[in-house]
Amino acid sequence: MGSTLDAAALSDFSSDHSFTFSASSGSFRGGAWNSLSQCGARLASPDGETAARDTSRTTLQTPSEPGERMACQEQVVHCISGGLILAGVLFLLRQLRFQMPYGRYAGSSKRWLVPARVAWFLQELPSFLVPVLLLLSTHQPSILGKYLLLCTFCLHYFHRTFIYSLFTKSRPSPLKIMISAFAFCSFNGFCQGHYLLHCAEYTEAWLRDIRLVTGLILFFLGMAINIHSDYILRCLREPGDFTYKIPRGGLFDYISGANFFGEIMEWFGYAIATWSMPAFSFAFFTTCLIGPRAYHHHRWGCAFNSSAMKK
Ligand SMILES: NC(=O)c1ccc[n+]([C@@H]2O[C@H](COP(=O)([O-])OP(=O)(O)OC[C@H]3O[C@@H](n4cnc5c(N)ncnc54)[C@H](OP(=O)(O)O)[C@@H]3O)[C@@H](O)[C@H]2O)c1
Repeated sequence: MGSTLDAAALSDFSSDHSFTFSASSGSFRGGAWNSLSQCGARLASPDGETAARDTSRTTLQTPSEPGERMACQEQVVHCISGGLILAGVLFLLRQLRFQMPYGRYAGSSKRWLVPARVAWFLQELPSFLVPVLLLLSTHQPSILGKYLLLCTFCLHYFHRTFIYSLFTKSRPSPLKIMISAFAFCSFNGFCQGHYLLHCAEYTEAWLRDIRLVTGLILFFLGMAINIHSDYILRCLREPGDFTYKIPRGGLFDYISGANFFGEIMEWFGYAIATWSMPAFSFAFFTTCLIGPRAYHHHRWGCAFNSSAMKK
């Protein structure tokens, strides 16, 4: 092939190796990466441009060269995404009868409780730290994938880990909830980060794609609703007070679970902006996890109102 590669040759080569990208859809690839790795070759196209445009990016590297981009584990990512959807359905079914045992549903046991600020900080930290560490250890990430990851996923978890946890006035959290949330956040942080940095490949056309624009609008709108609603809830309490009142203002005037509504909107926005299976499965899982919680809160609020009217 020599040191230069013309566009036609590359196009033949890429179709032979299922190297798929489309200018209109900003698609991704992974199969190609694996095929190339198996051939002992790497096609360096880190910024999503077609390598045909810049032949200097077409290089041959040995698979173990230090600092190279981690190979996309496409099969694993798809299995995990399927697993997340299945887990979401199971959570949904379980929550038809049982509430997630934290906050007002934690029960009266005082054993194995962790202060809420510590619990929220520790359990959410991996969702921020794991993608950031992946990003720092990846020398040739997908450039648009990198910015999408930083502007959406990491931004959300930066707020949740360093701001929400600092100000929360929640009652102490059960240790087992904290541990399971920590495990989930580590796993999901890796899955989302790995996919956006090592598997997804967006062309420049994706910057003008309606899915990216709509997805980002939904994400930031959802984030604003979520943060504002959590702020309203926080203002209902003085420090050390764990009583419940009916929240008023913002979207709480229309929906009882306004903070959950914002969070669900955020993750569907993220899924649309990235147009990726792991992001869709995470949005689905979130809906199955906090959707029923919103419903239980609503029922609790109705019962609270009717008992207040009787008094
Ligand atoms: N992505 C995900 O999978 C996921 C999963 C879970 C949570 N989250 C997000 O994490 C945040 C917190 O979740 P959460 O389940 O703790 O939400 P939540 O049950 O609505 O509670 C949020 C905070 O407000 C307090 N609170 C709730 N209702 C209140 C009322 N009527 N009067 C006074 N205080 C009240 C809670 O105190 P208590 O804790 O003492 O009840 C807690 O401090 C939300 O933004 C949620 O969207 C995301």
